Amino acid sequence: MGRILSGVQPTGNLHIGNYLGAIRNWVKLQEVHETLFCIVDLHALTTLPNPAEMRQYTREVAAAYIASGIDPERSAIFTQSTILAHAELSWIFSCLTPLGWLNRMIQFKEKAGKHREQANLGLYAYPVLQAADILLYKATHVPVGEDQKQHLELARDIAGAFNRQYDVDYFKLPEPLIFPTAARVMSLRDGTSKMSKSDASDYSRIHFLDDPDTIALKIRKAKTDPDPIAGIPEAMENRPEALNLLGIYGAFADLSLVDACRKFEGATFSSLKQSLTDQIISVMDPIRLRMVELLKDPQYIDAILKRGIEKAKGLALKHIGEVHDIVGFLRL
Ligand code: TYM
Repeated sequence: MGRILSGVQPTGNLHIGNYLGAIRNWVKLQEVHETLFCIVDLHALTTLPNPAEMRQYTREVAAAYIASGIDPERSAIFTQSTILAHAELSWIFSCLTPLGWLNRMIQFKEKAGKHREQANLGLYAYPVLQAADILLYKATHVPVGEDQKQHLELARDIAGAFNRQYDVDYFKLPEPLIFPTAARVMSLRDGTSKMSKSDASDYSRIHFLDDPDTIALKIRKAKTDPDPIAGIPEAMENRPEALNLLGIYGAFADLSLVDACRKFEGATFSSLKQSLTDQIISVMDPIRLRMVELLKDPQYIDAILKRGIEKAKGLALKHIGEVHDIVGFLRL
């Protein structure tokens, strides 16, 4: 049994990439492991959302976790900002992290774009805070989508740097858990870019809160190409949109990409799109309905978060105290 930690930013537009690449996998893990699922509001602050939206999206992520099957009895569901040790450990790690390591981070480069000088320090330090989230709980495994691989490698490097600096064997290196099915769901408008909360087009992604008509419309409008579907993925190497739709179908229907291709060999996109729409709705609509119910009762959501915070806090305070001793802060 290991200790699992992962998180989602409350930045709105939660989509099926977040579900397939992350949340869905967490549900299975909670059966046999100790599980902690954070709502990383400190990370979301790097995008400076307005405060009312931050509150709304925080409860939305909590509702999405619960509606997807994260059981508050088994797992701690909690907000990052309420446990001050996240920010504290992040600072301690900042003092050990060479700028050169951060300069390599692809996500920063993508998010900062051409306006690097205007990007905020929080965005630059984002992966250090993420390392603190993971190591504060001494998590052994971190289930995430493929886009987070580099951040997890950095978390391992930071753990090593801490141990070396203080000549201790305090942090074990956390293992990324990237499930091969739907590790990287692509945009419905462009099969070469990742499905993302920040894409300007709503048609690029399917949201947790999309109703069946909206899902059907978005899939109908999804980009395709003129050729019929081939029976094997290798024959569609230059057809990223086709591969993405088949991959999403497979992920929702519990089929490998190879089996999904075989199933639709020779079919037109319109028949694939019909099956895909039905498949997505059959999984996502019960989740949406449960989310809508939960969101009608914010106090209930807050009570679950408070319980999660209490559970997480025990571990966080124990570990941050030990870290204080290691680095030489007086315990007064
Ligand atoms: P966020 O909110 O951007 O993404 C949440 C999770 O969804 C996965 N994901 C995807 N998976 C497959 N296909 C996609 N198109 C796709 N888009 C997003 C992400 O990989 C992620 O697992 N930095 C984290 C948040 C975080 C965190 C942590 C995670 C902060 N601290 C500690 C683990 C442990 C993130 O990307 O959030």
